[in-house]
Amino acid sequence: MEYRIAVLPGDGIGPEVTEQALLVLEQVGRRFGHSFRFGKLLAGGCAIDATGTPLPKETLDECMKSDAVLLGAMGGPKWDSLPGDKRPEAGLLGLRGSLGLFANLRPAILNKELRDASTLRPDVIGESMDIMVVRELTGGIYFGERGRRAGKMGQEAYDTESYSVGEVERIARIAFEIARKRSGKVTSVDKANVLESSRLWREVVTEVARDYPDVALEHMYVDNAAMQLVRNPKQFDVIVTTNMFGDILSDEASMITGSIGMLPSASLAEGRFGLYEPIHGSAPDIAGQDKANPLATILSVAMMLRYTMQLEDEARAVEKAVDRVLEEGYRTGDIMSPGKKLVGTREMGMLVAGYI
Ligand code: IPM
Ligand code: MG
Repeated sequence: MEYRIAVLPGDGIGPEVTEQALLVLEQVGRRFGHSFRFGKLLAGGCAIDATGTPLPKETLDECMKSDAVLLGAMGGPKWDSLPGDKRPEAGLLGLRGSLGLFANLRPAILNKELRDASTLRPDVIGESMDIMVVRELTGGIYFGERGRRAGKMGQEAYDTESYSVGEVERIARIAFEIARKRSGKVTSVDKANVLESSRLWREVVTEVARDYPDVALEHMYVDNAAMQLVRNPKQFDVIVTTNMFGDILSDEASMITGSIGMLPSASLAEGRFGLYEPIHGSAPDIAGQDKANPLATILSVAMMLRYTMQLEDEARAVEKAVDRVLEEGYRTGDIMSPGKKLVGTREMGMLVAGYI
């Protein structure tokens, strides 16, 4: 099969980590007989510098013509003082909205080899951890009405949280489908004791659950969920939640694994189209020094093979190659520990490709 992939390397370490991920993808192509065509495009800070906007039309057009998008990282201190709608983040939200990427999958997996990296005690974390956060990505307060107005105590600013039945239903279905292939438990996180939007969320998730009698559903308030995640993360399997709660809880879950440089993500639209990116940022302090960990981007490519191309064997081959490299003791600086072999971005990419 031939696949067309829009590649948005972005800023900071984005270009170097995507380069290694593409190397691995090309190796998958050779080994399994697929051809991947890449179109590299500007997005984020580099696009602001070159064109004045974080998401040029040409980039969006090419994304729409592709089977999938691979994104490196966007943003950096250079663009931090720009107004809200001109920042690199606006480009990311524009991509999510325009491409209809409503389902954000953020696995928080603690690799056995990196157990010591967790900030939690070994008796809390156990042998390993594997949680899938399913975050709604194109609704809620991120996309609701916002603005400023005059108020009794001076100027007021507001953002609106709102969810429709259809929006909750489709994200809930994604979570239940995923849970079905795992241990079969969904925790839906909301704030239904206070928010009307959360009460609707809870009603709809409960309704969708009827179609999945084989999956256990539990509801949890977001404050409790934040606490339970560090108290006993092992109780969770799939967490499904709103855009903003998912933003917060997925950072918390990823920190528990201690290795943010390892975690991939997928943002899916209806059908098979998706955008894949590491969850880490652009790390401008180490950019261009061959120090960045490319494994999160490489594992994002594995997610692309699984969810967009439905090539499960190829996805597993990439994940196994990463496990193998870690077992052999190779580490980039961010996951280095005594007695292991320190390698750079490029060597790490070559090692993984070598095991495909
Ligand atoms: C994320 C990020 C983004 C978000 C920012 C950069 C807009 O924190 O992907 O989690 O809040 O969604
Ligand atoms: Mg975030």
